[in-house]
Amino acid sequence: MANPTQTTKTGDASGRGSVSGYKVNFPARMRVYSEAEINAVVNVMRNAEAQTQGEYLRQFETDFKAYTGARHAFAVDNCTNALRLAATLCRLAPGDEVLIPAYTFCATAIPFGSTGARIVWTDITPDTWVADPHDIEKKITARTTTIVVVHLLGMPVDMPAIMEIARRHNLRVVEDCAQAPGASLNGQKVGTFGDYGCFSFHGAKNITTLGEGGVLTVRSDEDAALVPGLRHNGVRGFPAGRERYWVPAMSNVDMDLDSLWPNNFSIGEAQCALGSQLLKVLDELNDVTIAQAARLRAALAEIPELTVARIPDGYRHIFHQFVMHFDGSAFGKNRNDLLDFLTGEAGVRAIVQYHPLYRYPLFQKLGAAEQDCPILEGWWDNSFSFPWWIGMPDETLDYLVDSVKAGIASLKG
Ligand SMILES: Cc1ncc(COP(=O)(O)O)c(C=O)c1O
Repeated sequence: MANPTQTTKTGDASGRGSVSGYKVNFPARMRVYSEAEINAVVNVMRNAEAQTQGEYLRQFETDFKAYTGARHAFAVDNCTNALRLAATLCRLAPGDEVLIPAYTFCATAIPFGSTGARIVWTDITPDTWVADPHDIEKKITARTTTIVVVHLLGMPVDMPAIMEIARRHNLRVVEDCAQAPGASLNGQKVGTFGDYGCFSFHGAKNITTLGEGGVLTVRSDEDAALVPGLRHNGVRGFPAGRERYWVPAMSNVDMDLDSLWPNNFSIGEAQCALGSQLLKVLDELNDVTIAQAARLRAALAEIPELTVARIPDGYRHIFHQFVMHFDGSAFGKNRNDLLDFLTGEAGVRAIVQYHPLYRYPLFQKLGAAEQDCPILEGWWDNSFSFPWWIGMPDETLDYLVDSVKAGIASLKG
């Protein structure tokens, strides 16, 4: 039975936030800011000369490169626009095919679909629940130009396998790292394997630059030379050595963008100053969610009806969310029955996320209804997530486990 007393007091447009009547909510943000982080913002408000495109942008980009090991990093206003820049640099055109995971947030696909390229949906692996390299290779045709993968929920994709396929077929690779800042494979950070890495600092992410923000990492020097102009309406700093700085004009109108249309995807200085502070604590924050997940995974191992993702050796899965699969077929029940119990009697605001994108009317109407994703089809309708934030008390985690046990016992009758 759904909880009858639901009212959102605060929260965001996606429905996250405190809802009365629940013992455990699905919060709108992952943590509160520290004083050092607040001071970094206030300092820019008081003291910085430029409020955008200034020294804090350059520092944040330098810090991001140092943190990830990326060759080039460009801060932008959000990850959707980082993906849009990647799509622009891939030079996608109508008739091209781009391979995109069907199991992800819609923002992964929109920037690529809007180029006019054809979206070909790719499946998940049966055990890690992110992009399956075998399925990707199977779907490559003579028209494929680009592979997009998503390190969804904080779980890294098998990037060595993806890059090997891309090299053999001469394809570009975009990594959507929106949910995985700090995740890595054998010590190499996500966002540094492919041609482009796209990061989000949206309000619900592990680190957030005041609600919106992102970074595009870029491998090639040629692409990197284009990004500042593409990000900011073609405006770029003058190269050193111009004698008359005002010639031909105050903004640099004579630098070539290789016939690509620019945009304004700039991010403010206060957000960049905050971003630099947040990078200092990112590993610590990820350690907290990893420890929370370890506690839950150990306890859930006793429940045969629940499965969690396999974490291959050498993977740092940062647990941006905690997703499980429920199999109640032995007693004729499904995920929705379990969620009725959790959200009702137990007061746990569990959720279901990332509906397969080919099921959305948005994508269907835009010509991306076709799919061949049998693993996702067989898995998704019985998947769900617990409420999740950084620093959940042990008692809350234990309550989630007890609730799910009680729910399954009640469904079994
Ligand atoms: C997988 C994925 N890709 C892209 C995005 C878009 O990020 P942003 O909100 O910063 O545009 C998100 C954000 O929620 C996401 O989860």
